[in-house]
Amino acid sequence: MTQKVFLQTFGCQMNLADSDEMFNHLRARGAQKAQTPEEADIILVNTCTVREHAEHRAVSFLGRLAKWKKERPGRIIIFAGCAAQRLGNQLKKEFPFLDIVAGAKSMDTFSALLDKSGLFPPAQEVLPPQTEGLTGYVTIMRGCDFRCTYCIVPYVRGGVKCLPHEQILQEAAQKAAQGAKEIMLLGQTVNAYRDGDVSFADLLNRVSQVPGVERVRFMSPHPAYITPDFLAAVRDNPKIAKHIHLPIQSGSTAVLQAMKRGYTREILLEKLAALKACGMTVSTDIIVGFPTETEQDFQDTLTLVDEARFFAAYCFKYSPRQGTPAAQMELLPEQTLEERLDILLNKVRDLSARAYTAQVGTHQQVLMETENKGRTSNNFWVKTTKNYKIGSVVPVEITRADGTLLFAKE
Ligand code: 5AD
Ligand code: SF4
Repeated sequence: MTQKVFLQTFGCQMNLADSDEMFNHLRARGAQKAQTPEEADIILVNTCTVREHAEHRAVSFLGRLAKWKKERPGRIIIFAGCAAQRLGNQLKKEFPFLDIVAGAKSMDTFSALLDKSGLFPPAQEVLPPQTEGLTGYVTIMRGCDFRCTYCIVPYVRGGVKCLPHEQILQEAAQKAAQGAKEIMLLGQTVNAYRDGDVSFADLLNRVSQVPGVERVRFMSPHPAYITPDFLAAVRDNPKIAKHIHLPIQSGSTAVLQAMKRGYTREILLEKLAALKACGMTVSTDIIVGFPTETEQDFQDTLTLVDEARFFAAYCFKYSPRQGTPAAQMELLPEQTLEERLDILLNKVRDLSARAYTAQVGTHQQVLMETENKGRTSNNFWVKTTKNYKIGSVVPVEITRADGTLLFAKE
């Protein structure tokens, strides 16, 4: 009988891509996707541990699976990803019904782990999975060589490992042949990519030349690798999306130093100006309430956010992660974190509305993701008046903004 797998993924885009990769190993063993846990024989939980809240969600989901497992004999639970890596075998003690723990560092050995468990038939050769939707996700590197003092990622994902560029181009070509018009390159510090003499900028250009690819995006870059050759590629190649999600974390040099981010406020402002000069819109991640953050430091973040005019920002309260250097530091009061988050979120909301309004009157190329909605190269959502084929690129003029949606006439 065919085994059916339900995928439950927490966390980032990388995790979604990893879930697909793990599913493919199960597919090679005859498994198919289940739409609900009820119809599934296997549940694959891919987890995140970047903040405590994310880890809690993953572990409490696992707790709720005890009942699911009992309902039918032979059901299998695989607990994978970053929280699985951090908590490791202690989980098996706490949740004895757990069948397989596959931490984030074991992506390369996932297939062997399945074999070792004896729970699956042997693997067969299978075709690459069918890409669903308009965007083909391609992992180009894993891990991180930075050691930001608040961050657990390097401990659970390990150091940087870049995939060979030939393999990446082949995967992009496969996805494009299956209908993906946009390729999203993924990595923890994606722009640190290098394979021999192929830099990240080279890779962006090469992927953009793959037949069928209209647009190339990437996630998540680090400010340290916003280099002149990257900027030149963005400026000269219209297929590279004019949007970057660039986590800054703080606008205060003192906090950035305590976080060991490797740049100052001034360097950041220079890089942001250079990105803007290439026509890029920028969104970001910001942490409020890092242990050393003073009121002045927080004000520095607010003024930087104003100056940078981010069109979107994910804002997080600092969450201590065991084993990181910052976890040794004394926490700020929770109330301070709440207040600062609230102030920042209000500012970000205003900026976002202004950024959308500023698009009115501009001419854009919209890559259609539904029949009447798509995204500009700058990553703004646009609704068209007529219907188009999904995947087509439609030239429009923006006529109106409403919240975080633009309206266009074609
Ligand atoms: N506390 C709060 N936010 C964090 N991030 C990473 N580590 C922490 C932490 N310990 C945020 C950063 C990062 C995003 C993915 O999560 O802003 O860019
Ligand atoms: Fe974490 Fe810093 Fe690496 Fe990003 S660059 S994954 S924040 S250590």
